[in-house]
Amino acid sequence: MTVVPASAQATSMRSHLCGSLRSEDIGSTVTVCGWVAKRREHGEHLAFVDLRDHTGIIQCVIPGTVDVRSEYVVAVEGVVRPRPEGTVNAELPTGEVELGECTVTLLNAAEPPPFAVDDRVEVDEGIRLKHRFVDLRRPRMQSNLRLRAVVNGALRSAMDAQGFVEVETPLLWAPTPEGAREFTVPSRLSPGTCYVLPQSPQLAKQLLMVAGVDRYYQIARCLRDEDLRADRQFEFSQLDVEASFVTQEDVLSFVSEAVLDAAEAATGERPGEIPRMTWAEAIDRYGSDKPDIRFGMELIDLSPLFAGTEVKAFGAPCVKALVLVDGAGLSRSKLDSLTDRAKKLGAKGLAWFRVTAGERGGLALDSPLDRFLSDEERSGLLSTTGATEGDLVLVVADQYRLACTVLGHLRLDLGGRPVGEGPYRYLWVVDFPMFDGVDDAGHPVSAHHPFTMPHPDDLDRLESDPASVRSQSYDLVLNGWELGSGSVRIHRGDIQSRVFAVLGIDEEEAHSRFGFLLGAFRYGAPPHAGFAVGIDRLVAIFAGEDSIREVIAFPKTQSGSDPMTGAPKAVAPGVLADLGLRVIPPKD
Ligand code: AMO
Repeated sequence: MTVVPASAQATSMRSHLCGSLRSEDIGSTVTVCGWVAKRREHGEHLAFVDLRDHTGIIQCVIPGTVDVRSEYVVAVEGVVRPRPEGTVNAELPTGEVELGECTVTLLNAAEPPPFAVDDRVEVDEGIRLKHRFVDLRRPRMQSNLRLRAVVNGALRSAMDAQGFVEVETPLLWAPTPEGAREFTVPSRLSPGTCYVLPQSPQLAKQLLMVAGVDRYYQIARCLRDEDLRADRQFEFSQLDVEASFVTQEDVLSFVSEAVLDAAEAATGERPGEIPRMTWAEAIDRYGSDKPDIRFGMELIDLSPLFAGTEVKAFGAPCVKALVLVDGAGLSRSKLDSLTDRAKKLGAKGLAWFRVTAGERGGLALDSPLDRFLSDEERSGLLSTTGATEGDLVLVVADQYRLACTVLGHLRLDLGGRPVGEGPYRYLWVVDFPMFDGVDDAGHPVSAHHPFTMPHPDDLDRLESDPASVRSQSYDLVLNGWELGSGSVRIHRGDIQSRVFAVLGIDEEEAHSRFGFLLGAFRYGAPPHAGFAVGIDRLVAIFAGEDSIREVIAFPKTQSGSDPMTGAPKAVAPGVLADLGLRVIPPKD
């Protein structure tokens, strides 16, 4: 992390930062400002104040008494001197020195804080968020906020250096077709009509390509009214990128450069080249389109082994397995809960096999299904999975996708680790399918968005076999989190019309929803492609946090509220009248 030297942060009120003082400063008279972290009095002649600012804590020794309490804001003038022998604090970077002969000037009194400003104290998140201004004083939160600024700075520099131009796009916008529910803003000047807050600058950036901007980026605020989770907030930030006359390769290279620069700035180490995997391979090996490749536990295909099986439970198009090394000791109730989990994920059931010691030094299987297996199946299961004594083999037999994804979830449940725990393992996942599932009317649903270009090799199957069509879209994955995604866009009207037709969007609907974009495309749309990196997720992982709330200054709670401001709040009747709105009281 680039740090501005403490000396450059002197102001008219302070000469030094609390956390910057060291033995080299001994003898200097300095003034520091900050919040009282702790006060101790030794009789009437000596008082100690630990003073905190965002850089750390310095111990101040005051001859006499001092009338300050925790979190009072003060300025302290004193002389830097070595701490007396035996009182050096090795846990503090300033622990070899103290400020002696101090004069304390009170800048502002403070009420007792709602919780201690101390990383070691666990505080309920609701209380933390209600008093976020106090919570953010804690070293961990200060460090997270500053890390975020460092990451943003590195991303910006990388994009600038690659010739990208930062352009700001509107927050009051029209709906975009990216699938998430949008926040709607009623218009006062045109009652009964609404703006929509952008779920991403997707269409605006494509218009900028028609406008000849050539290489655009923005650290963009995006808004989505979707359920909140550890990796999701209503408001979040993207490094949003779009470029003209480029292919997928170019975009992967631009984005890799920016993300690797940010990683280097944040962690001090530049990761190597980011490996790639196709979507099909990711599903097959890890049961996920965002595989956490920090650990193995890859899925194993047992379909050929059980192709003609008599075992009823395995009579399915796909039989896949997962080995939990040393997992044979899992209790029956744990195995039952894994089975329940598999069922909740959509599987008909979960078969398990404990690998135990068999006769004559061989291996045996302990499982309710064992007696139904033929000898060939039993030995094939052991040899194909490579499981040895003490291991547990979990098997799901079902349709291919379902078997893979159920085991993919179990793999994470059993082998996964917190997302922010090193090492950092980046992965490009490419060749996503064009469509994922079907809607209520039986039309395929876009896997990315309707402006994504089909894979050129699959274009002739667009209408006849849409499920088999790959798209030119790609995701960046880090430690099992989707960090970003993007695609080559359709710039040709004929291909766009075919894709809309497959999606069941007729001309009238296409015109009413995205007419402004399609209209603009008639005036010379260059081939273009882009990407968006979720900055909150990137920073959370670099900060070693498991929730993006920890790297956002003022996040919402899981239920979407802000305990500090009380938002969302009822709107005053006058405001509603101005907007031409009436509230329908919610049902119980
Ligand atoms: P997508 O919808 O995949 O693509 O979003 C890109 C990245 O944004 C982050 N992200 C979020 N982060 C926090 N909270 C959320 N609610 C949230 N939703 C998304 C994720 C995600 O990978 N316009 C396209 C990109 C493009 O095609 O250029 C888009 O927004 O890290």
